[in-house]
Amino acid sequence: MNILILHGGVGSPGTLSPVLNKYAEKAVKKNAIGSVIDSVVLMEDDETFNAGKGSYMRIDRSVQMDAAVMIPGNFGSVVNIENVKNPVRVAYDVMARSPHNILSGDGAVKFARLLGYDDYNVKTEKAEKKYNEIIAKIKNGEIKEFDEMKKNFDINDLIGDTVGAVARIDGEFAAAVSTGGTPLMLRGRVGDSPLPGSGIYCGENGAVVATGIGEEIIKKQLCYRIYNEIGKMPLEQIVKNKISEFDISVPVGVIAVTRDEYSIYASKDMAYGVKTF
Ligand code: GLY
Repeated sequence: MNILILHGGVGSPGTLSPVLNKYAEKAVKKNAIGSVIDSVVLMEDDETFNAGKGSYMRIDRSVQMDAAVMIPGNFGSVVNIENVKNPVRVAYDVMARSPHNILSGDGAVKFARLLGYDDYNVKTEKAEKKYNEIIAKIKNGEIKEFDEMKKNFDINDLIGDTVGAVARIDGEFAAAVSTGGTPLMLRGRVGDSPLPGSGIYCGENGAVVATGIGEEIIKKQLCYRIYNEIGKMPLEQIVKNKISEFDISVPVGVIAVTRDEYSIYASKDMAYGVKTF
């Protein structure tokens, strides 16, 4: 059986799952990598999700995005890219068309422009509103310091975190992720999504992507540690065990596929779509 799974980020309401089922239907291709990229592109273009056009603002009002793609033996990502429509496509081009695996900041933007990606404004009213809400809380004294701000931050307000997709098609695996990060980040902050092993991993035995607060996911190298246990017990159990290592205040979600199983699991709401064929 071939399978494509999409998620809309931990915190995204289950009521969005029908939308993601439609996206899965639309994005599915004859190969795994094309299917995961097109899935993520659809979510990047949909302002509902915190990726591409729906990305949240940093503390300085800029929008910096991270995205990655991975297939067995190869990886590409962009870190803190700005003013491009589809960071996940640029991440694929880093993997397929550059001699590198990761490009960041103005270098990533320059690379995208060289390949013909237009300057594109990703700022939305949604991002502006969220920014103003958090700044108001800081000004009112409800949130005092950066650490406290992180604790007070309710991921359910986000209408989702990172978006992602995994696929197994004709025996091939692929994974893709894209994110506007978590509000209210410092400019230059890097989350889990563009880091192989943290927010994404793909090898000969399967593909795994994660969503949640990047700092915590990075510390646990979540996706590689799930991948590394494939075959040792049922996949669902591996995913649940690893997510249970996080503090209850840290919502985390994972989608994963192996040769004969798949898993969709989150410690809070998470919209998802599935296409099997
Ligand atoms: N998981 C998205 C981020 O923390 O950047």
